[in-house]
Formats: sequence, structure tokens, C-alpha cells
Amino acid sequence: MPPGPFGPSDTLKAAASMRGKLIGTAVQTSLLGGAPYGTVLTREFNYLTAEYEMKWNVVEPGRGSMNFGPGDAIVGYAASNGMQVKGHTLIWHGAVPSWLDGLPAGDLRTEFERHIRDVMAHYRGRVHAWDVVNEAVADNGAGLRDTLFRQRLGDQYIADAFRLARAADAQALLFYNDYGGEGLSAKADRIHALLQDLLSKGVPLDGVGLQMHISATSRPSTASIADNVRRLAALGLIVHISEMDVRINNAFGTDQERLEAQRSAYRDVVGVCVMEPRCDAVTFWGFTDAHTWLTGDRPLLFDAQYQPKPAFYGVLDALSGR
Ligand code: G3I
Repeated sequence: MPPGPFGPSDTLKAAASMRGKLIGTAVQTSLLGGAPYGTVLTREFNYLTAEYEMKWNVVEPGRGSMNFGPGDAIVGYAASNGMQVKGHTLIWHGAVPSWLDGLPAGDLRTEFERHIRDVMAHYRGRVHAWDVVNEAVADNGAGLRDTLFRQRLGDQYIADAFRLARAADAQALLFYNDYGGEGLSAKADRIHALLQDLLSKGVPLDGVGLQMHISATSRPSTASIADNVRRLAALGLIVHISEMDVRINNAFGTDQERLEAQRSAYRDVVGVCVMEPRCDAVTFWGFTDAHTWLTGDRPLLFDAQYQPKPAFYGVLDALSGR
């Protein structure tokens, strides 16, 4: 495998492994085989998250007609390249198949239980951790988000999802995942309260993912993120930075200043995970600006020509303790 920008010891994967951390990226099946995408992916990362192909609307486009192919391709690629996989995501209002919308509550309960049971069984033993429930807390932190699941199944749906997931797979780590609660905030407080309550009721919950979709010049302070991560770890939870990207289009300054601000943001956030023993993975929501959900921005570590940006070196410095 060709060395990274500085040589084999200076790949993200090598530096992260020396810290006992996983370093990952969101991926899409259609991109896996090619170079340079695959070359950089296998050189730098050891933890893959399906950006969209393991979600309910892709896995079961029609009621009862399963489409595990794309997810299986990602799991197979990871196994062939010594990587681990994070399943994303079982229960999320953002990827509900259209046929689910109109179901009466009783049918929805049946399908909710079947989806979790069938998908977890299909991937049992091949997926390191699952985002069991994604984005269940309201943005203002006032309470739970009023999703289809909450409306039809009650607030209990969150605990039910985790219990069903554990019953289906005794090994996989079970995560709650959300955005907007990375630093201390009303939403972070509500996420903490939700997780504390679940744990107090004996709900099987192993970790929390902080998505970390931030902007180079408007982001939570590093100290606030560190305090929040510490508070979550004190619950006994594993903490992941689960979907990190750093927008720069809305940042001030010259292009070089924006890229420098982006490098600092990546270095600061990854540095928080390096310092927290219970933070065991950082995943970026893609790794090249050629493929990002933030169309038109340049939020990732490699540019559209797969060349490392200052952001890449910010992450490497954080992992290397430089
Ligand atoms: O690649 C196919 C293309 O072949 C097809 O022609 C086209 C039209 O159907 O769809 C394309 O797939 C789209 C995919 O993004 C790749 O662009 C899917 O329709 C689209 O639903 C999918 O959106 C994803 C979105 O979640 C919804 O699943 C984004 O990639 C993904 O970045 C985004 O990720 C979410 C996390 O799961 C949760 N946190 C927020 C984050 C950003 O919204």
C-alpha cells in the first residue's frame, strides 16, 4: 500500500491505532471500488459507516421487500480490508420508507419490531456498533422530537428500540446518535437527561454519538465540548464523534484563512477525543470534498482531487499529540 503523505507511520489509521482509537468515514457503495477513493480510504481509515445504504428506506423500499445488497457490499469491503463497521441507523425519522407513513399504530409497532429484529439478525457478528436511535431530541432541547415513532408508539419507543436491538444481537454496541448537542447546551442537557434516564431503567445502551456537523467559525468551544464529553463518559457511556465535517463557505477571511480555521477546528475536536479515554472513535462524514452531503462546500480532510488539506494535518497533529 503506498505510504501516506509522510509515510506509513503518518496515516490517520496508524496514528489513531497508536492511541487505541478507531478512525472512520461515511461511505457509499458506488464509490468503494475505484481509485483514488479506495486507495485513500484503505490507507487512512479503519471504521466505516454507511452514509445512507443501511437506513430503513433503502433496506426495505417496499413492505417486506428487503434490499441488503448495498449494506452487504460495505460490510464485505470492510471485512476484506481489516475495517470495522458502524451500522447507521435503525430508527430515524429522516429515512422512513414511504409505505410506513400511513400505517395504523398497531401495524407500525409490528413493523418497528420486525425491522430492528431482521436487520440486526442479518448483520449479527459483522457490525461493531449500531446507531439504534438517531436524532430523537428536539432542537431546542425542550423535549423529544415529535416524530412518527413518538406519535404512534409513545415516548417508550426509544427504550423499546434498544431492548429489541440487544435481544437481536448480544454483542453489537448500541448507540444513541444526535447533532446539536456537542458542546454544553440545552439540547446537550436534554440528551444527557434522556440517556441517564434510559440507563437508570436498565435499558441496554453502550454509547452516544455526537455528530459534530460544525462550521469553522461558529462552533462550540473546545472546553464546552470536552466538558460535555466528560459528562457523558461519566454515565459510563462510550463516546463517538460520529459524523464530523467542518463547513467553511460561511467562514470569514481569505481562502487560506478559512482552511486554517478549518484545520484548527478539526485539531481541537479530535484532540478532545484523544484526551477522553471513553472516546474510542472519530468518524468523518466523508473524507473528500468530491463527495459530501454539503454540496458546494469544502468540509472534509481531502480536496476534490484527493490531496490532503490543512484539515488532514490538523487531525494528524491531534492524533500524534503534536
Ligand atoms: O446515490 C443515489 C443516486 O444513485 C440516485 O439517483 C439518487 C436519487 O434517488 O439518490 C442517491 O442517493 C442519495 C444519497 O444521499 C447519496 O447522495 C439518497 O437519495 C439520499 O437520501 C441520501 O441522503 C443522505 C441523507 O442522510 C438521508 O439518508 C445523505 O447522503 C447523508 O449524508 C445524510 O446523512 C445524515 C445522517 O444519516 C444523520 N445525520 C445527518 C446527516 C446529514 O443529513
